[in-house]
Amino acid sequence: MKVRKKTKIPFIFLILGPPLSGKGTQAFLISQEFYLKHFSVGDFIREEIEKKTKKANKFKKIIEKGGLIPDSFVNEFIKKQIFSLKKEEGLIIDGFPRNLSQAKFLFKTTKQTNKDFLVIYLDVRNSFLFKRASLRRFCSLCNKVFKDGEIICPFCNTRLLKRKDDKKTVLQARLSEYRKNTLPALKLFEKRNKLLKIDGEGTIKEVFRDILEKLKEKINGNS
Ligand code: AP5
Ligand code: MG
Repeated sequence: MKVRKKTKIPFIFLILGPPLSGKGTQAFLISQEFYLKHFSVGDFIREEIEKKTKKANKFKKIIEKGGLIPDSFVNEFIKKQIFSLKKEEGLIIDGFPRNLSQAKFLFKTTKQTNKDFLVIYLDVRNSFLFKRASLRRFCSLCNKVFKDGEIICPFCNTRLLKRKDDKKTVLQARLSEYRKNTLPALKLFEKRNKLLKIDGEGTIKEVFRDILEKLKEKINGNS
């Protein structure tokens, strides 16, 4: 299949990288470009937490310490998204898989549904991440993120908030979780030729342009 600009592609894309590497930002742009559904596992978990159930309180504590939510809960959500795809539909998932067990689950589920997948990996050094954490605000209604000290969401007209897990100590814990669990999963995808490594330190536009170029090369090259 030849991928050109604004092509609808029935692929599953996963976007990974350290906290604040730009996964949500780029996933949104990619979803627009290729007419893909977009799911953020982090947003889904934060919405669960708002329900204030016993399980939600447990998740809240985990997130505020920078840990990972149990695989069984996350995998069930991902399975539902993948199984609900029509033949011609594609999907981009932001923030999954975050460990080897979730990576193996992805291989199994995509095999069962006959869908191909590719992992986009945003490579960003820690110094950039800490700076982005101090600037980020988000809208609790539409989940959009902002980076330049904006105060009001231009879409919902509500006050933007800071994420509790963007505190320096929690960010350090998220980074150590990432190194311990997510890096081994990335190595597995690299070994299986499923990884597209992108320099995530340029501007949002530069990173997006690089993703599009490399993505088209990779998909067209494999067809
Ligand atoms: P999640 O919400 O996914 O958090 P994360 O992985 O830490 O990533 P972030 O959302 O913080 O950053 P991002 O990479 O999306 O960057 P963004 O585009 O916002 O997960 C939260 C928690 O949920 C986890 O800690 C875990 O507990 C749990 N969880 C999630 N998935 C799970 C899973 N699979 N299994 C178990 N638990 C799971 O950009 C960041 C900021 O930088 C923004 O302000 C943005 O405007 C700005 N920005 C973006 N790109 C650029 C750029 N190129 N230059 C300058 N600024 C930029
Ligand atoms: Mg995000």
